[in-house]
Amino acid sequence: MRLVFLGPPGAGKGTQTRLLARRLGLAQIATGDMLRANLARGTELGKEAQAYMLRGELVPDVVVIAMIEEGLDSIADGFVMDGFPRTVGQAQALDALLEQRATPLDAVVLFKIERSVLVSRLSARWTNPRTGRTYNTLTSPPAVAGLCDEDGGPLVQREDDRRETVVKRLEVYDLQTEPVVHYYRRSGKLVEIDAVGSVEAVADRLATAIGIEHARK
Ligand code: AP5
Repeated sequence: MRLVFLGPPGAGKGTQTRLLARRLGLAQIATGDMLRANLARGTELGKEAQAYMLRGELVPDVVVIAMIEEGLDSIADGFVMDGFPRTVGQAQALDALLEQRATPLDAVVLFKIERSVLVSRLSARWTNPRTGRTYNTLTSPPAVAGLCDEDGGPLVQREDDRRETVVKRLEVYDLQTEPVVHYYRRSGKLVEIDAVGSVEAVADRLATAIGIEHARK
């Protein structure tokens, strides 16, 4: 199964990507995580991306498309893309890359959610940078504050989750990523889910939308 998850920052794409990928044995492709990993390693790519990310802007298409292309051959059998594509240029590039490989997308899932929920979700988000597992101090806190339940590693807050940067990221979503929603709607691949509610409730809706049963197994 080849899927793309679309939706504004904080909609829960990353949370559902990790659950579904684990459950179905799919590769996870999260461009935000890939860029942050480059940043942490101090690579040239990471240095180039840093300023854009801190401002809440998109990293140039050419950088992220190259990053996706590099890994695509090894994962074309099944994947969930979280955070890519985010511009129509990226969507067209992805279509071309998948067409070359005769591995088209099965579905694009749009996570629908009101703006008011997003800022509070993001300001309460804590992440294990080693595994990408996220917590929310309001709705799903770790058992011990500041430490990951899975490996005991320290949890951190993302620099771009500051309120003013979140507002900017939402503006960027409206301007540059909303057109991607229309692009996939026209292609007939778009399915929409209500992303409000518990993580389990959203996982159930997602499973129904993509035709998978028994999501909680
Ligand atoms: P990226 O890392 O992709 O961030 P994003 O798209 O803004 O999405 P988020 O990770 O903020 O939110 P999410 O929807 O994954 O929510 P999550 O599951 O974590 O991108 C960061 C930056 O990198 C960009 O700004 C850009 O600069 C750059 N970039 C990345 N990709 C790019 C691209 N393709 N092109 C150009 N630039 C790119 O959940 C959020 C919180 O809510 C968590 O605390 C979670 O525990 C909680 N939560 C989740 N689900 C629920 C629920 N159902 N109920 C209650 N709480 C929930």
